[in-house]
Amino acid sequence: MPAIISYMEASTLLNPYRPGAGCLPPYLAGRDREIENFAKLLDQHIVIKNCILTGLRGVGKTVLLDKFKNVAINKGWLWTSNEISESFSINEERLCYRIMTDLSMVTSGIIIEKDEEKKIGFTSEKSITEVFLNFKLIGFLYKNAAGLESDKLKYILEYAWSHIKKSMPQVRGLIFAYDEAQSLSDDPKKQTYALTMFLDVFQSIQRKQIPFMLLLSGLPTIQTKLVEARTYSERMFTILFLHKLSAEDSKLAITKPIEQDNCPIHFSEKSIKLIIKRSGGYPYFIQFLCKEIFDIFLQQKSAGQKLMVPIDSIIIKLDDEFFAGRWGFLTDRQRELLSVIAHLKHGEDEFTVQEIVTESKKYQISTFGNSQVNQMLSSLITDGLIFKNRFGKYSFAVPQLNEFILRQHIAIEND
Ligand SMILES: Nc1ncnc2c1ncn2[C@@H]1O[C@H](COP(=O)(O)OP(=O)(O)OP(=O)(O)O)[C@@H](O)[C@H]1O
Ligand SMILES: [Mg+2]
Repeated sequence: MPAIISYMEASTLLNPYRPGAGCLPPYLAGRDREIENFAKLLDQHIVIKNCILTGLRGVGKTVLLDKFKNVAINKGWLWTSNEISESFSINEERLCYRIMTDLSMVTSGIIIEKDEEKKIGFTSEKSITEVFLNFKLIGFLYKNAAGLESDKLKYILEYAWSHIKKSMPQVRGLIFAYDEAQSLSDDPKKQTYALTMFLDVFQSIQRKQIPFMLLLSGLPTIQTKLVEARTYSERMFTILFLHKLSAEDSKLAITKPIEQDNCPIHFSEKSIKLIIKRSGGYPYFIQFLCKEIFDIFLQQKSAGQKLMVPIDSIIIKLDDEFFAGRWGFLTDRQRELLSVIAHLKHGEDEFTVQEIVTESKKYQISTFGNSQVNQMLSSLITDGLIFKNRFGKYSFAVPQLNEFILRQHIAIEND
């Protein structure tokens, strides 16, 4: 019989687990190698390599980005970051303003000297005696600079670096970190080439030995997008691909948080194995399962019951909270296509258009043709459910999506 804890005690115990987008976990497991590799990039005197941090949904990109920020600042770099919002259809000018806004976050405290102020023709309000390199001044310089958007932005970045160097000589460089960067793209239909401009500007700035480094985080689609925009981008970036956690690291992610808090809840070896198996080592699922099990154990302990994990009920809750929203947005036809993929022998790894077309013939649904599959896959890529790798094969961008789909029993019965 487990030791009973009072309801009062149970109600004051804080659940340490943090399932949620960008929520810092109580213990960051298994990312030492990535942190080390990122730290090496920070030792570059001339920036030749930038960084892509990529992986499936919920694998821990955003929280690692936060960790990278501390590493970078400790090594003498400035850091500015933002999220590329998916609804934000970005053209060249909007991207320039995005970058300038982020730049001004770190330059706003820099004072421009009086003669410099006269030289650039920026007349500040009379009462102000000091002029800062803030967004207002940067916007003024941008508007008055000559050339295309890319020329104006290059000028601003060069100008800003000359002042950063003067006022903070100890600074090694500046990192521009963008999360959800798979949303950046060119749009030939609208004749906008924001992504291409972005790469060109940073490549040109780096060639001039200005230490501004890019750190782009997002779904694996990002790699293909960058190469499609500019083939040289392959040489411009080091790719850190975040994988699921090993069994050993998963165990640490599960057990450390309750060890550290000197907590009355303990997970048995059997429960730990179950969490590792059902989470597949994916950090979000680990946090989710642990949070639920922690709460259930607490209640069972308070009631003097034997500790049991109602895993099926927890998985139903996970389906509702993590998968259902994404699934709910899809059309019936998209669901059929995804169900066909989930039934493929290697659906959880990678698949081709041809495999989908062939598989679809086995079921009582109107079959899919090559071009239809191609078209539907590209819209599922935009929705962040699928990605295409460098070798032209496709995969699910959401871990365990195939298992969720199979649990939905979509009516695509075998002939
Ligand atoms: N190394 C880790 N150890 C333990 N938990 C982690 C780890 N990395 C992330 N987590 C947890 O996993 C969840 C997802 O993390 P995060 O939001 O950073 O993922 P993501 O890759 O950015 O997801 P998305 O693609 O949806 O933006 C969070 O609840 C976080 O606390
Ligand atoms: Mg994220």
